[in-house]
Amino acid sequence: MEESPKLYRELAAWWPLLSALEDYAEEAEDYRRLILEGTDGEAREVLELGSGGGNNASHLKAHFRLTLVDRSPQMLEVSRRLNPECEHVEGDMRSVRLGRTFDAVFVHDAIAYMTTEDDLRGVFATAFEHCKLGGIALFVPDHVRETFEPWVHQGGHDGPDRALRYLDWTWDPDPNDTTIRMDLIYVFHEPDGSVHTELDEHVCGLFPRATWLRLIGEAGFEVRPVPLVHDERPVGAEGYLATRPG
Ligand SMILES: C[S@@+](CC[C@H](N)C(=O)[O-])C[C@H]1O[C@@H](n2cnc3c(N)ncnc32)[C@H](O)[C@@H]1O
Repeated sequence: MEESPKLYRELAAWWPLLSALEDYAEEAEDYRRLILEGTDGEAREVLELGSGGGNNASHLKAHFRLTLVDRSPQMLEVSRRLNPECEHVEGDMRSVRLGRTFDAVFVHDAIAYMTTEDDLRGVFATAFEHCKLGGIALFVPDHVRETFEPWVHQGGHDGPDRALRYLDWTWDPDPNDTTIRMDLIYVFHEPDGSVHTELDEHVCGLFPRATWLRLIGEAGFEVRPVPLVHDERPVGAEGYLATRPG
């Protein structure tokens, strides 16, 4: 298996200082609305693939019964502390099979880590397998090829005894392939006052809208793009709302 970024392994405990819950409130509200719109208000059981530190889940759990899947045991641990009432399962979104179906499957920014069409095919097949007949899947990539622009973003937060700041420089070394890089540099303030830094290279996928629509359709879904623009998200991001016919 390819190595995942340090952020999801040895640095996972810092996640809550990198990405604060409040920053997800506005977009989580959009996802709640789209999930309910797509299911005629019926959605109750929701599966999230690549749920990470559980920030979206912390907002969505008031409305749905959530099952959260991530391949990082360290990130699942962070999410379990925040969302003890949710079921957590370790698994890869390209291959995990829980043996049951849901009203909706939600895949947020974790889908950025799919770098090939085969990866995407795996995720869409997983989503299809876990969708009830007539259920929906909502895919929310950070970027699509048509609207991608390199960006630099800084952030981070103070905790009670330690603090983190980061710089995210997202860029495309080769516009002719399906990957981009998110180079993150973190500055850590430890409780004892010491300061250190880490560079963490995230390799992410970048696909044209037509690829998203084609592959989601080939998995068996009926699909339409839905616009999603938030202050905290990259410009031009859009989602794909897919229905499993039936
Ligand atoms: C940015 S975090 C997700 C944060 C999440 N949206 C939240 O609300 O907290 C990305 C997550 O994707 C997960 N991930 C990456 N590739 C994956 C895969 N193939 N299967 C499952 N999870 C994956 C990582 O382990 C990481 O936890």
